[in-house]
Amino acid sequence: MSLLKIVTWPNPILDIPADPVTKFDDDLKKLVNNMFETMYSAPGVGLAAVQVGVLKRLFVMDCSGGKDPAQRVVMINPEVVGIEGKQDGDEGCLSFPGIYFNVERNLRAIVRAHDINGKEFELDGTELTARCMLHETDHCDGIVFLDKMTPLKREIVKRRIKKLQKAGEWPS
Ligand code: NI
Repeated sequence: MSLLKIVTWPNPILDIPADPVTKFDDDLKKLVNNMFETMYSAPGVGLAAVQVGVLKRLFVMDCSGGKDPAQRVVMINPEVVGIEGKQDGDEGCLSFPGIYFNVERNLRAIVRAHDINGKEFELDGTELTARCMLHETDHCDGIVFLDKMTPLKREIVKRRIKKLQKAGEWPS
């Protein structure tokens, strides 16, 4: 396994909708294993393939941060099939290191995806699991959490990043 380089905003690759996965082969398994290692090492609770520069529709997620093996999940070709309620809370993203900001999300989400062998399954989650699935599925559609903020909050975050860039404290 090896660590992959995480792409940071405003790299334009983050704005491109990813292509569906059609081959469930050894290369895909290798990519997924490397994505898990990269996510745990960051550390983070979710990582989409576009964030490591691979325009494929998949993400890895572990809302327990490696503590509960049952929460280690890869969702390939994810599709949101149900949403319910609202939640408010701070959200982060490995492509925006150190930035945590309030984003409104659905409280519950049902996402349909393929597993590593190409078998279809659905994950029904609330709170952090729902937030993470929605955030990562957005990445697969070329959407970053900045796009989900109100225009005012977006400006605040952009200004904060500009400051960090000027100080040489923002990775490119
Ligand atoms: Ni993210």
